[in-house]
This record gives sequence, structure tokens and C-alpha cells, in this order.
Amino acid sequence: MNYEILNNVKDVVVALLYLTSAIFFILGIKNLAKPKTAPRGNLLGASGMLIAVLTAFIDFGFVINVQAELIESRFDYWYIIVIALVLGAGVGLTSALGVKMTGMPQMVAVFNGLGGGASLLVAGVFYVLAIGGAEVLETPALVATALSGSIGAITFSGSFIAYGKLQGLAIVPDKPVTFPGDLAVKGLLLVGLIVLSGVLVVSADAAHWYWLIVAGGLVLGVLLVIGIGGADMPVVISLLNSYSGLAAASTGFVLGNIVLIIAGSLVGASGIILTSIMCKAMNRSLTNVLFGGFGGTPTSKTQDDIYEGKVTATSADEVAMILDSAQRVVIVPGYGMAVARAATPVRQLTEALEARGVDVVFGVHPVAGRMPGHMNVLLAEENIPYEKLLDLDSVNPSFPHTDVAIVLGANDVVNPLAREKDSEIAGMPILDVDKARTCVVIKRSLSPGFAGIPNPLFANDNTLMYFGDGKKAVEDLVKAYKEL
Ligand code: TAP
Repeated sequence: MNYEILNNVKDVVVALLYLTSAIFFILGIKNLAKPKTAPRGNLLGASGMLIAVLTAFIDFGFVINVQAELIESRFDYWYIIVIALVLGAGVGLTSALGVKMTGMPQMVAVFNGLGGGASLLVAGVFYVLAIGGAEVLETPALVATALSGSIGAITFSGSFIAYGKLQGLAIVPDKPVTFPGDLAVKGLLLVGLIVLSGVLVVSADAAHWYWLIVAGGLVLGVLLVIGIGGADMPVVISLLNSYSGLAAASTGFVLGNIVLIIAGSLVGASGIILTSIMCKAMNRSLTNVLFGGFGGTPTSKTQDDIYEGKVTATSADEVAMILDSAQRVVIVPGYGMAVARAATPVRQLTEALEARGVDVVFGVHPVAGRMPGHMNVLLAEENIPYEKLLDLDSVNPSFPHTDVAIVLGANDVVNPLAREKDSEIAGMPILDVDKARTCVVIKRSLSPGFAGIPNPLFANDNTLMYFGDGKKAVEDLVKAYKEL
């Protein structure tokens, strides 16, 4: 047997399989762009990962020793790998099957954190084994090792703090935790990590420096995320998702593993794009999310200034009568629809209206709810056709010729204060529901939304406030409409 040829064949097969899994990842992300094709996207991504994992076994599991003319197996501890695979797949499967839709951000946070942790451990073990075997590592590999250690550690601890905030764990306060000089402490830690990374690159045997980098990264991750309010966690999680990708890509450089570099870069880039979309939709800079509270200048208008004597309350029967003469209805869902679990009665209302020839569409704001695509997912679960979910640019021009806009548990995303220069949410793009002939707002009270500011929409002449829990209110409305 010609072992040289065999070795070359192995390299080509491994490279082709890695390339195949990278293509699966790219197609997976492409398909994830639309709710309709998203399940296929998930399947493609998972298949790409399976190919990558199996290929890694061929890549790292067998060494073809050309000189000694033999194939060595590195599978002395194969049963540990099998146990780890079964455990990992089991945990992934049970958590994905058991998670509630509203618990999705927490699950993503945990998975991001574990991704960061895995990257730092793999890079660390590779580095320790290499220097233990007196192997000389090239500078790029050393830089990548330091990056894996620091970014992986920040991602790990930061993600678990984000999880704690979203889950409402008592030990992690929901409010931003700050202390005098915290910015300076974070800055010093960052400088310390850069200095330690430099030491790791220039010194020959620096295993202890690596673990010090990891320790510093863990502390920095906690401090960075603990200082941010719970409501901003979706943005933070998306950013940490990007970090976990960068950590994985760095580990890919350490191992010289192409698929890890590609997959990590894809996660890094898509995470940062998603973060920027969310920030743009809230008209906030990333710096403001990471280091500041919500918005800029506080509004001078109080609840009383805006609402006193101007709010008109309505009932299910009255709204049903208005809908009876409507030709076009736009439903604008928000966080309250998710909390009230009102998507099913919303679908029933849509069907009842359409049965009488009414044109019904949904106006979906990119940051409605508390996670990207929150409303799209809830409505897609009810089999509401994707074509009916219109984004800001598509739905806004249609409000002037819309008979009724039904705002269900949405607040900030329909707040006209965003059009005023001196408000906290100045410049945030909103859904122009106030331009519809009649606007019906369904919520329990006049309480503010996430931004904590009053909403003049509730006091408009063409607005009717239908107070109540979202689910019960829409159920009553469907009943009243059907009885007409
Ligand atoms: P919000 O402005 O947060 O308003 C939600 C409204 O739902 C509240 O005013 C509340 O009023 C109502 N509500 C709560 N429970 C309800 C129930 N059971 N039945 C009926 N109504 C209920 O929501 P939005 O308009 O969707 O805006 C989202 C906000 O979150 C934006 O400010 C956005 O910037 C922020 N944010 C979003 C994201 C993502 S990725 N989506 C990430 C970070 C931050 P009552 O208490 O009076 O009922």
C-alpha cells in the first residue's frame, strides 16, 4: 500500500467534506431568512454540523504515518467521545423540544455561553499539549490562542449572566448593576487581557498565562453584562452570539481547522448584523445599549399632561360594530400579545373578518416583543400566511386608507413621541397606526412599555382604548363580532 497516496487521499476527502458542511451552513443561514423556509434552514445547519463532526473524526482520529507505513488510531478513549456525543445530543434535543417560545432567548444565551466555553477549552488544551511536547507554535496560532481564551471566557460568563437576568434568577438583578469607577475597572481588565495576550505570544512556555487570560475574561464578561438592564438582554445575547462565533473561528486558527474558521466567521458576522439591525430599529447606538440606559433626553411630558380627560375607553361590542363596517384592518401585535398568549384568538379574529370579505394584514415592527422575529414566530405558529406579515416600509403607506388599526399589546413601536426630536425614543421608526381612520388599542392599562414613557396615541381623537388582558379581550371581540 502506498501510504503517501493514502495520506493525500485522506486530506482531499477531509477537505471536500469540510467544504460540503460549510456549504450546508451557508445554505442554512440563507433559508433561515424567511419563516417559511426556516425549518429547512435549521435542518441544513444541523446536517452541516453532523458532517463536520464526523469529518473531524477522520481528520483527527487517524494519523497516516508515511515513514513508518502504518495507520495509527487516536481513538484510545473513543468511548469518552461517544458518551460526550450522546450526552450533548440528548441535552440539545430535550432543551430544544421542551423550551417555551418565550424562553428561547435564555436557551440561546446558554448555548452561546457553552460555545464560548468549548472554544476556550479546546484552544487551551491544544496549546498546553503543544508546549508540553516542546512544539514551537507560530505567532498567528499564539495570537489566535489568546483570542480564543479571552473572547471565549467573556462569552461564557457574560452569557450565563444574561441567562440569569432573563430567567429572573434572584442572584442576578434585572436592573443594571453599576458601581463608582466600574468603567475604569472594565477598561483596566481589558488592558490587562491585551498585555497578558502579548506575554503569551512572546514567551515560550506560558500555560499559566493562558489560564490567567481566561480568568480575566470571565470577570470581564460578568462586569460587562451585569451593568446592562434585563430588557436589553436580547441585543446583548445577539452580540454574545457574535463573540462565540469569533471565539470558535480563533480556535479554528489554533487547530488549523477550516470548517471551524468558516462556521465561526458565519456566526460572528451574522450575530453582529443582527445586533446592528436591532439597534437601528430602536434608534440606539450599540454603545448606548452597552453603557447607557434607554434613550437620551427624558421627555418633559408626564402621564397626566398627555392622558387627562382625553382617553376614550371602549368595549368588545363597540369594536365589533366598527369592524362590521371595515374593509381593511391592520393588526399590530407587540410584547403584550406574547405575554397574554393571544395569538390563537388573533388568528380566529382574522378568519372571522376574512370570512366577511375584510382585507386583514399584520404590521410587524422589527423590535416588537423581546426577541428578534418574536411576532413572526408567534403568528407563524398559528399558520398565518407569511405574505400577510408586512414590515414597516410596506405597511406604513397603507395606514391612511386603513379603516381600523388594532394595536394588541404593543406600545413603544406605535408611540408617536418617536417623531419628536426631544423624546427618549426620538428617531425610532414606528408603525403609523395613528393615521388609520380608527385605532383600537388593546392593553390592560395606560402603563408604559419597555421604554417607560407615556404614549400620546392613547389620547388621540381617533383612538379607542379597549382595556383588558390581550387573550380575553380578543376572545370577547371574536364572540361579539360573530354575534352581529
Ligand atoms: P412594549 O412597548 O414593551 O409594550 C408592551 C405593552 O404590552 C405594555 O404597554 C403592556 O401594557 C402590554 N401588555 C403586557 N401584558 C399584557 C397582557 N397580558 N395583555 C395585553 N397587553 C399587555 O412592547 P412593543 O411595542 O412590542 O415594543 C418592544 C419594546 O422592546 C421596544 O421598546 C423595543 O425597543 C424593546 N426591545 C425589543 C427587543 C426585540 S429584539 N424585540 C430587544 C430589546 C428591546 P399594560 O401593562 O397596560 O397591559
